[in-house]
Amino acid sequence: MKVNKLRQQRKKEHLLLARRGARCSFASLFSDIRLPHNCLTEVNPHDVDLRATLCGYSVAAPLYLNAMTGGTLAAEHVNRQLARAAAKFNLPIAVGSQSSGLRSRGLRFTYQVVRKYNPHGLIMANLSAHASLREARAAVEMLEAQILQLHLNPVQEFIMPEGECIPPGLVDNIADICAGLSVPVLVKEVGFGIGSAQAKILAAAGVKAIDVSGSGGTNFARIEGRRNASTWWKPLADWGLPTPLCLIDLAVNASDLEYLASGGVDDGIRALKCLALGAGAVGIAGAVLRALPAGVEDFLSAYLRQLRVGMALLGAAAVADLRTIPLYITGTLRDLALARGIDPAFFGTRGG
Ligand SMILES: Cc1cc2nc3c(=O)[nH]c(=O)nc-3n(C[C@H](O)[C@H](O)[C@H](O)COP(=O)(O)O)c2cc1C
Repeated sequence: MKVNKLRQQRKKEHLLLARRGARCSFASLFSDIRLPHNCLTEVNPHDVDLRATLCGYSVAAPLYLNAMTGGTLAAEHVNRQLARAAAKFNLPIAVGSQSSGLRSRGLRFTYQVVRKYNPHGLIMANLSAHASLREARAAVEMLEAQILQLHLNPVQEFIMPEGECIPPGLVDNIADICAGLSVPVLVKEVGFGIGSAQAKILAAAGVKAIDVSGSGGTNFARIEGRRNASTWWKPLADWGLPTPLCLIDLAVNASDLEYLASGGVDDGIRALKCLALGAGAVGIAGAVLRALPAGVEDFLSAYLRQLRVGMALLGAAAVADLRTIPLYITGTLRDLALARGIDPAFFGTRGG
């Protein structure tokens, strides 16, 4: 099959398998975090101020629709619905990897539909972190995007039959893009997590924000594995750093960086936990895809309501107030934090 046909086929299969629920089989670990209910709260849900910043842009809520698709006809339909929802709720939105659109002019509309239906929105372009500066500029231009997401996906590349070898010079390449581009660059994983050691290297390369995109949600080991008849990849199905563990690591070891949370952040209470762990905003992909077509607006309004009600019940009137509330970390997440050399009491005793 020709490379572009193969890519289109792959995008279709990603949508299909993600919708069917190729999720992590293990717990996301969000349930290992307990929040400090405040019975004396005087904050009402409608008074909560959800405003946040994302790569220097003011946003109405700390929530964005994360990168998923583009490059096939089916993707155009999905992106159109997502763009409408993003415009309605005033949420930032990313497209899926634009490499197909760069190679084939005829596929560009499957991405540009996001700008068409969300003309004034905050839109994030998306490419592999191995793309060139020239490609990065073209991807941003294709959408008049305000931010570029670069994705890191070694697990996916190593499992998919048509995966490519990782060329040397990855961090230098990211630094070239950051230095040469007029918009901020955000680096993300696709569901296997970014630890503080790698986050610091990326920040030093000029990256504005890190989306940890950890494990616990969409599982690309399973998605790629299920695209063919092989089974060798199965032990890799529970590979990765769980999202809350990445955030704990960053909160303690790299708190000066701007970091974002995605990977299994499927409801507003999980989002609350991420924000309390210092994430500037949270991204959702698989959960929103599964809510399509009819339920995406209901899904997003429930999500934002959960966030508002949760904040009110914590007595938090603004997102920044969440960063000082105590968090009680138990179970496997506690064990993992301890194994990383982090005392969970750091979070349990904060805020007086
Ligand atoms: C169908 C599908 C396609 C995806 N394609 C991309 C992509 O092209 N580029 C990218 O950076 N991430 C991609 N992702 C990863 C998501 O942006 C996100 O990092 C990951 O799914 C974890 O979030 P979730 O658990 O909310 O789904 C894709 C996710 C899904 C579900």
